[in-house]
Amino acid sequence: MSVQNIDSVLQEERLFPPSSDFVQAAAINDAETLAALRRRAEEDYEGFWGDLARQELDWQTPFNNILDQSRAPHFRWFHDGRLNVSYNCLDRHLEARGDHPAIIFEGEQHDIKTLSYRELHAQVCRFANALKAQGIAKGDRVVIYMPMTPEAVVAMQACARIGAVHSVVFGGFSAESLKDRIEDAGARMLITADGGNRGGKIIPLKQAADKALAHGCPSIERVVVFKRTGHDVDFNAERDVWWHDAIDGMDSSCEPEWVEAEHPLFLLYTSGSTGKPKGIQHASGGYLLGAILTMKWVFDIKDDDIYWCTADVGWITGHTYVAYGPLAVGSTALIYEGAPTVPDSGRFWDICERHKVSVFYTAPTAIRALMKCGDDIPAKYDLSTLRLLGTVGEPINPEAWIWYHKVIGGERCPIVDTWWQTETGCNMIAPVPGVVATKPGSCTLPLPGVMADVVDDKGNSIREPNKGGYLVITKPWPSMLRTIWGDDERYVSTYWPKFDGKYYLAGDSARRDKDGYFWIMGRIDDVLNVSGHRLGTMEVESALVAHPRVAEAAVVGRPDEIKGEAIFAYVVLKGDRPEGGVDRALTKELRAWVAEQIGPIAKPDDIRYADNLPKTRSGKIMRRLLRSIAQGEEITQDTSTLENEGILLQLQGKA
Ligand code: PRX
Repeated sequence: MSVQNIDSVLQEERLFPPSSDFVQAAAINDAETLAALRRRAEEDYEGFWGDLARQELDWQTPFNNILDQSRAPHFRWFHDGRLNVSYNCLDRHLEARGDHPAIIFEGEQHDIKTLSYRELHAQVCRFANALKAQGIAKGDRVVIYMPMTPEAVVAMQACARIGAVHSVVFGGFSAESLKDRIEDAGARMLITADGGNRGGKIIPLKQAADKALAHGCPSIERVVVFKRTGHDVDFNAERDVWWHDAIDGMDSSCEPEWVEAEHPLFLLYTSGSTGKPKGIQHASGGYLLGAILTMKWVFDIKDDDIYWCTADVGWITGHTYVAYGPLAVGSTALIYEGAPTVPDSGRFWDICERHKVSVFYTAPTAIRALMKCGDDIPAKYDLSTLRLLGTVGEPINPEAWIWYHKVIGGERCPIVDTWWQTETGCNMIAPVPGVVATKPGSCTLPLPGVMADVVDDKGNSIREPNKGGYLVITKPWPSMLRTIWGDDERYVSTYWPKFDGKYYLAGDSARRDKDGYFWIMGRIDDVLNVSGHRLGTMEVESALVAHPRVAEAAVVGRPDEIKGEAIFAYVVLKGDRPEGGVDRALTKELRAWVAEQIGPIAKPDDIRYADNLPKTRSGKIMRRLLRSIAQGEEITQDTSTLENEGILLQLQGKA
């Protein structure tokens, strides 16, 4: 798709500088300090990153080589250095901050637990020793399919401690998705729980895990099961071991495995424009550096902050801003297990009040949903401890931004709108809040050392204000993905396909305004953003055509007030089209089928049945036409290639 003709209609002019109180307390609070950082990165890119890596990370073996470009775009950072990520998150804080809370946990049913750095360290060590006792060693892949509990973080940190490579699968994904990810990663171990609490229900994780393993996953030797809900689950005594039995008698210290900086820390599967999710592979040193710097630059993190990022550890945000970043800087991470609406839609604000949350980071979809519940709900709570708010995952509409600013932030908290991706590892374009004035809907300016640009089809930088183009990163950065697990070629063809392979192609279109502020305009590929979660249209299509009655399917997004994007599916059946295009029972069945194949987040919101899909003469599905129809727009495209004009009416739901 060409982005040449994308011009923006949205022009938001309001500017929100940080309050003087905020500025006074901020670590970076004058334009000159920020400008000096940017200058340094411009003038001596490697020196800039090298100094920061020495300053921010504890190395067991210092590195001499900062950036190795010899196998570009397979870049290596600090590759002759050795370190351990878990050591950097835990051990190095023990002396000065051993009793400081590392994690505050609140379960959906109000069970609360606090773990100090010393306690978390002991738990991680004990579990790391258990992993070793179960035969897990450096480089082995371990899949984690857990509820949002501290044990999910313990499992991740324990893997990092022994050099095992974790791959967390979001608990909302189905058995089928879990199986695909386990098989692609070739994992030896699965760590799961009997279940998790969400929305007043039990999420039957062990049951899904058993189902995944019954249909495949021959590489799995051991399943560790954490007892969370205590309900009855099947137990295969030869394969399964309870978490509490596995750690029984294990030592509470565990020498970290010192790994090369490039050693893979984790894989995280994400959607692309094909049916098969990609295992995004991150390295240890560069990734952690990005997590630490953005905790400082973007979240202006302070020793006594209570930092709450609401993301699940199944997503990249839950990796960088729950499991690693907050711990690496010695702060306190709040973890909440459940849904924002239990027992009512005041839960988030109730948690903020009771735990005195000071930095709160969530997704626009959650903000919009809570905004709909009315101002009187947050008004019941004391939100005065909040000092900084953040958003991530999709563009935030100015209305929701203003509500967040006024009703939640009391007009006193800057909002950091952070643009980044699973692939980038950490925030890339985001305000440094003590300096950069914000504009509702803009992620503002690239962070120091992030060379972001907006370019045209030929790779030329677009200077004209508000002219849309491809969002690219023109230089490698430490926390970037290293490859797609097991598929170097796909890594190159997905992220470096244009501009002579020189620029990282983010897959988003963007524009810059007259002040150079970035505005993300949406994906340029067939990736949907549903409630801030990435889903490939092809994934949903593959799931639909796997149903015995479906011959063909095309899936597009349509704007949705709460979710950002909703899933719209056009389906051609193997038999006859239902009378008048309506078959409620089948629609229900197909929605359930997709939930089963991928997970409930992928359920189509609308399904329309047609005798055929609209195709070009060369046989390509006319997605733009389908998108227009899904949005209820006037059809302006050329439809003369349609075999049967009647199909248009069917697609529109008019026949
Ligand atoms: O389209 C952009 C959107 O989310 C995509 C990345 O999705 P994922 O890898 O799942 O990571 C989400 C959390 C980092 C991007 O390509 N996106 C992310 N943040 C923003 C955004 N769009 C607009 N504004 C943002 N702040």
